Amino acid sequence: MEYKSIYIKTFGCQMNDRDSEALLGLFLDRGYIIATNPQEARVIFVNTCSVRKHAEDRAISFLGTLKKLYNEKPPVIGVIGCMAKYQGRRLIEKMPHLSIICSPSRLYHLPEYVEKVKNFGVKIIDTDDTQREEAFYESSFLLDKDHAQVVISTGCSNYCSYCVVPYVRGNLRLRKPQKIIEEVKRFIERGVKKITLLGQNVNDYVYKEENIDFVQLLEKIASIKEIKEIDFITSHPKNTSPRLFKVMAEYPNIKKHLHLPFQSGSDRILKLMNRGYTQKDYLLLVEDFYKIVEGSLSTDVIVGFPTERKKDFLKTKEVLEKVKFKYAYIFKYSPRPNTEAAKLTDDIPNSEKERRHKILLNLQKNISSLI
Ligand code: 5AD
Ligand code: SF4
Repeated sequence: MEYKSIYIKTFGCQMNDRDSEALLGLFLDRGYIIATNPQEARVIFVNTCSVRKHAEDRAISFLGTLKKLYNEKPPVIGVIGCMAKYQGRRLIEKMPHLSIICSPSRLYHLPEYVEKVKNFGVKIIDTDDTQREEAFYESSFLLDKDHAQVVISTGCSNYCSYCVVPYVRGNLRLRKPQKIIEEVKRFIERGVKKITLLGQNVNDYVYKEENIDFVQLLEKIASIKEIKEIDFITSHPKNTSPRLFKVMAEYPNIKKHLHLPFQSGSDRILKLMNRGYTQKDYLLLVEDFYKIVEGSLSTDVIVGFPTERKKDFLKTKEVLEKVKFKYAYIFKYSPRPNTEAAKLTDDIPNSEKERRHKILLNLQKNISSLI
C-alpha cells in the first residue's frame, strides 16, 4: 500500500486556518498521516489568500519552491483557497508541477480529486462556487485540543469596494443553527473549552427560516455551560449593535474583546469604500461598547486608499487616538482586480502609503504599550 501522508501550508486569515484544519481531518479519517514537511508528503496543499497582492506573491513564491519535488515520484500538489478561485487555470499554466486547483467552496471533494490524480494522472480544476457540504466539517480533528474554531457562515455580500472576498468566497451563505450547535457539542464532548465562531461578517448572520440572528445564536452557544470562553470574528460596524454588547456583558464566558475594523476615519473615504457608516457612527458604537461591555477593542485600518488626502488620513489617525485599541492591523491599500475600487486610479504612491503606514504603526505601538 502506498504511504499516505499530507502536508498543508496555510496563508491568510483564521478562516483559512480552520479550512486547513477541517481538510486535514478529512484526510486523517481516510488513513493519511500528517507530514512535518513537504519533502515527506505524498499530497501537498497550499491554502492561499488573495486579500492583498503581497499575500498572493508569498504563496506563488512558496509554490515555486515545490517545483524541485517534482522528480520521478512526484507528490500530488494542489492550490486551494482564495487565490485558487481568483487565478484558477492560469496557475496550472504557469506551474505545470501543480495537479489540483480548488476553490474554498469545493474543499470537501479533495480526497476524491487526489484519488483521480493518482489513478489517472489527470489535472483537476474546480473553481465552482456552491454551498459547502455539511460533511466538510464532519471530522473532529483539532490542531489545538482546547480550542475549536467553528464556521457559522461563508462568503460575504457586503461588497466593500476594496475587497476581494465576495469574488473568491462567494456571497454570504449560512450554516443551519442546529448544525453549528451540533459541531460545537461534538467538540465539547472531546474536552474543548474554548470556541471561536468564524465568519467574514458574523453579525450578518440571520437565519430567517428559524428566526435566529447572530446575537441569538451567540446566546444559545454561550448558554452551554461547559464552554469556558467564546469569542467571534469578524464584526462589521454597520451590523453591530448595543444588543450584542448587552449579551457580551451578560454571559461571563463571552470574551470581553471585540474585533471591529473601521478601515478609515474619513467619511468621504468610507463612502468610497461602501462601508455604510460614518466616523461619528463608529465612535458612538465604541462609546456604547466601552459603557456596556467594559472590554477591549481591536481593529483593521487601510491607508492609501485611492484619493486619500492628508486630511482623510488625519481623520483615521484621530480614530486611533480616540478609541485606544488594544491592537490594530494596519494595511497599505492593494488594488484587487475586479473590485469596484480597482476602477479608481491607485493614485497614492507607495512611498506615501509607507509613510502613512509607519505613522499609524508607531502611534498604535505607543497606545498598545499603555493599555
Ligand atoms: N488592500 C489592503 N487591505 C485590504 N484589506 C482587505 N482588502 C484589502 C485591500 N485590497 C484589509 C482590511 C480587512 C483585512 C482583513 O484586510 O482591513 O479588514
Ligand atoms: Fe481570508 Fe480574505 Fe485572505 Fe481569503 S482573501 S484568505 S477570506 S483574508
